[in-house]
Amino acid sequence: MPAVPITEIASLECVPQSTGSAEVDRVLGGGLVPGSVTLVGGEPGVGKSTLLLQVLGGLAARGARVLYVTGEESAAQVRRRAERLDAVHPGLLLAGETNLAHILGHVAESAPSVMVVDSIQTTFDPDLASAPGSVGQVRQCAHRLTSVAKHTDTSVLLVGHVTKDGGLAGPRTLEHVVDTVLSFDGDRDHSLRLLRATKHRFGSTQELGVFSMEHTGLAPVTDPSGVFLADRRPGVAGSVVVPVLDGHRPLLVELQALVVDGRTAVPRRSVSGVDPGRVGLLMAVLERRVQLSVLHLETYALAVGGVRVTEPGADLGIGLAIASSATGRPVPADVVACGEVGLGGELRSVGGLERRLAEAARFGFRRALVPRSTPELAVDLELVRVPTLGAAVALLGLAE
Ligand SMILES: Nc1ncnc2c1ncn2[C@@H]1O[C@H](COP(=O)(O)OP(=O)(O)O)[C@@H](O)[C@H]1O
Ligand SMILES: [Mg+2]
Repeated sequence: MPAVPITEIASLECVPQSTGSAEVDRVLGGGLVPGSVTLVGGEPGVGKSTLLLQVLGGLAARGARVLYVTGEESAAQVRRRAERLDAVHPGLLLAGETNLAHILGHVAESAPSVMVVDSIQTTFDPDLASAPGSVGQVRQCAHRLTSVAKHTDTSVLLVGHVTKDGGLAGPRTLEHVVDTVLSFDGDRDHSLRLLRATKHRFGSTQELGVFSMEHTGLAPVTDPSGVFLADRRPGVAGSVVVPVLDGHRPLLVELQALVVDGRTAVPRRSVSGVDPGRVGLLMAVLERRVQLSVLHLETYALAVGGVRVTEPGADLGIGLAIASSATGRPVPADVVACGEVGLGGELRSVGGLERRLAEAARFGFRRALVPRSTPELAVDLELVRVPTLGAAVALLGLAE
């Protein structure tokens, strides 16, 4: 085919169709684009099958014809789960199938508007010699399903298991084949589940979907900050609330630190939900710039609720939590803290501060410790501008 001036090429219509789940739609920027392929990655047991079965059940309830291909569980098992999720509707077709040729046959026969293949690792092309789950198989199956999606306007959702370190060759090699990559994660010991787009050809990757895993399936969490703060005990040393921004969505997260004199040669550090490297950096800054002796202490630090906080805006909160635990003096209950800490102990501003602090004000926080450069903001709480971590420690009376 010859190359054609771009002005003569018809633009691609990509109008997203609602999935019926407001949280999923939020992450996708409105819904699934017909003919698109979406990879849904996550650790085993996080709830991928549950989420997608719920979505298909919802679509079927509204009259759509949708297909769920199950290669991991039997159709009877999926039916049983569907009963628990209230997803049993005749428009939802189930196929217990792993053979790609048969799966493509089902698509041709039933012409679904949306199809789930659960999972891409169990699907195999009989024309290839390699084993199901191998990189070659996974890639070939994804390619074939992608071309079917484009030709039939079916929205295809592929389930892909990934391990904690993002491992397992399969899903990673698919990321450039598909239009959208969603990652579904959460802590096994908590009910909270977060859905994010890490790649999206049709929109932003800035949105966050929040769910809670219940007996009846994944329930939308419309007020995540409320969930994170529900069990907070104000007045305990080592606890600081930080307004983080996940995409466009502000979340109030409680950070906790506990430092103890372990009397071991190499002090132990255990960190969950926050970046261990940042914790180490903040301890060094406290030791050198704030003259707070903490490096020899055993340190535990976490973000409450199974949430993962990776942004530098949480630095000030982590630093204050460690300082508060080290001196046994609690951070006042009406204070939130937000700012990136440099190696000199200086505070740097972070993006989206107005949105973060509006969320804090909504939850009744009265004061916000923020970097000195923070401009005037239209928020209903007092801005306390501080130049350094040391100044924040002193201002809160946490110094030794
Ligand atoms: N009867 C039940 N009641 C409540 N939660 C359940 C029930 N059965 C399974 N679950 C939840 O569903 C999770 C399994 O979800 P699933 O969708 O199969 O995950 P994935 O497909 O990502 O491996 C379990 O870890 C558990 O949290
Ligand atoms: Mg599953």
